[in-house]
Amino acid sequence: MGKQCDRRDEYANLCEEAPDMADMFKAMGDPTRLRIICLLVTDTTGTLGVSDLAEKLGVTQPAVSQHLKTLKNEGIVSSRREGLYMYYTLDRDRMVGFRDLFNRMFETMMNKCAMDMIRTATRQTTLNIFTVFYSYTGVTREIARKIQRSCGGELIEVKTRRPYSTFTAYTHGVLRSRQEKPDPVFPEKIDVSDADLIVIGTPVWAWKPAPAIYGAIGALSGCEGKKAVIFTTSLKEPGEGLPILRQKLAARGVEVCGEVSLTKPEIEGMEKSATLIATIVSCYPQPEKKEKDLS
Ligand SMILES: Cc1cc2nc3c(=O)[nH]c(=O)nc-3n(C[C@H](O)[C@H](O)[C@H](O)COP(=O)(O)O)c2cc1C
Repeated sequence: MGKQCDRRDEYANLCEEAPDMADMFKAMGDPTRLRIICLLVTDTTGTLGVSDLAEKLGVTQPAVSQHLKTLKNEGIVSSRREGLYMYYTLDRDRMVGFRDLFNRMFETMMNKCAMDMIRTATRQTTLNIFTVFYSYTGVTREIARKIQRSCGGELIEVKTRRPYSTFTAYTHGVLRSRQEKPDPVFPEKIDVSDADLIVIGTPVWAWKPAPAIYGAIGALSGCEGKKAVIFTTSLKEPGEGLPILRQKLAARGVEVCGEVSLTKPEIEGMEKSATLIATIVSCYPQPEKKEKDLS
């Protein structure tokens, strides 16, 4: 199995973990066992035994014992003895581990689907997406990297010339963001004249884009007439992040053709990242249009 795994991929170890996942799916791939799991999840007493489960499920005790054995073998269920009785509970850590593995598999699939969508949409033409972003704690960077993994193109991280401390971020930074004042940034000039599509990403600071991204928009050159997809990341309140970005880009002659805000729970859920990729793909210039432009 290990030999067949493609180690170039950052998710390569998913391949190694496939047998373990398959065993989990197999253990859970039975209606009675799934019902046992549901009963154990919803049980608040921690005192469910074979006879209780058999009664609730309407099946024989030996059948329940057999199913519990399968679940125990997979580490999904644990048991404890109290006197004459044996009680069963769900192993939370094992389920959490399975969920994480499943999420990573889901994310890998979404990335691959996005790549396929892009290939179909662009009929193998070279992608030229410029993703320009600012990130203070790394969340927006992670999303920007995901975009590059899925869509290719350039990744341009903007840094403030004077780094923020936690204190200055919440004092000066928030004030500048509220006043929509651009931070001086590196690189000083971001040439996007070769880009077919620009993607701009920023964290939300005090319900507005972080001031570094105003600096980034000011640093763009060759951006007039370009299209952009914008995204914000925030804990829970994106506020006016997207409308302000749209407005600032319009002032530089850039038309926003798609926008996505991602809150922390949405980033953890991952579907919204897939929506962002799909939005980028839907904004990518169609080959027909590119051919016409060339003639
Ligand atoms: C100075 C500051 C202000 C913030 N203001 C908000 C806010 O108004 N609403 C919100 O939901 N999150 C807010 N956050 C949280 C960030 O927007 C969120 O954690 C974001 O995903 C961080 O992205 P980053 O890791 O790329 O910097 C703020 C964070 C900082 C540092």
